[in-house]
Amino acid sequence: MKGLILSGGHGTRLRPLTHTGPKQLIPVANKPVLFYAIEDLKEAGVTDIGLILGTNMPEKVKEAVGNGSEFGVNITYIMQGEPKGLAHAVAVAQDFVGEDPFIMYLGDNILKSGITEFVEGFEESDYQARILLQPVDNPRQFGVAELDDAGNVINLVEKPEHPKSDLALVGIYLFKSSIFDAISRIKPSWRGELEITDAIQELLNTELKVDSHIVKGWWKDTGKPEDVLDANHLILDVLESEDNGEVEEGAKISGRVYIGKGTIVKKNSVIRGPVTIGENCEIEAYIGPYTSIGDNSVIIGGEIESSIVVGDAVIKCNERIVDSLIGNHSHIESKENNLPKGHRFIIGENSMVHL
Ligand code: DAU
Repeated sequence: MKGLILSGGHGTRLRPLTHTGPKQLIPVANKPVLFYAIEDLKEAGVTDIGLILGTNMPEKVKEAVGNGSEFGVNITYIMQGEPKGLAHAVAVAQDFVGEDPFIMYLGDNILKSGITEFVEGFEESDYQARILLQPVDNPRQFGVAELDDAGNVINLVEKPEHPKSDLALVGIYLFKSSIFDAISRIKPSWRGELEITDAIQELLNTELKVDSHIVKGWWKDTGKPEDVLDANHLILDVLESEDNGEVEEGAKISGRVYIGKGTIVKKNSVIRGPVTIGENCEIEAYIGPYTSIGDNSVIIGGEIESSIVVGDAVIKCNERIVDSLIGNHSHIESKENNLPKGHRFIIGENSMVHL
């Protein structure tokens, strides 16, 4: 079985973070979202992986993943270019996939319990596709499946206005090569994309069988900032403590805290886990639960909680920062005079500031 990970798309809902790289490289608990997908495939025994690249700095994905040897897998890069839809990305990968069954994994999805169980038995079954589902409160934002009493899929609609069920399509799918024929017969949707949901519906239209599994544990599509923070929360819930840095006497550390190499936690710091801190950071502050601090960050004074600092950041202030997503090379500093308080911003398109 082969693997196909989608790492294209524009990532518009995560701007300005995606102005400096693809959304699949945004770190969750200090690890790019995309790496979780590669690790899940490896764990399920899928090591021949095609990685679909888009137009938003694809070289950054290549730099981060390389040939896959660090993960114990073989990566083949496949250029999709403009994001013309998930089914378009699959069609572009046809030469790579050949006649093999394959698993497609959207590179911005994270799943708690991996995919080993999901993959089991598909290759030898007579199903042409297997989809993964989860009940959600907001089905209109996803592809939605309708099942019969035996659990067979009878109908699929992408982002329906009037959903027939609350079962959302998780972005992980198993296919046989019949999907390529189905893709060749579908037309772009109202959003101008070739939808994989429509291609699976096309399999059903031609009497081919589609199987479904319900997700065990949590699943997150990290398409929006609040979803990235939620995923960070969920991953940190199972973080293990490790101290590879230097913690000065007087610093108070409680709960599960990971500290990377070369990081110094100064004596006035208070760190309440779960918290993960990368390498070569300098910390002299309160770092509260569910916070991830990326490499080479300096955080002095103030409080930060339930947030992601991507890395190379300087935060020197006496404020409390919560539920924030702070991009690479960001600076947050307090004014050092007694003039009336004001705020100075240099922020990009689609930025969000809560005061
Ligand atoms: O996350 C689950 C949902 O993913 C499903 O419920 C929907 O049925 C499915 O269509 C998809 O919906 P999204 O609107 O969330 O898809 P999005 O455009 O965010 O793309 C998902 C991933 O695929 C993302 O990592 C970017 C990548 N992508 C997307 C497109 C449209 C590509 O690599 N190429 C593309 O052409």
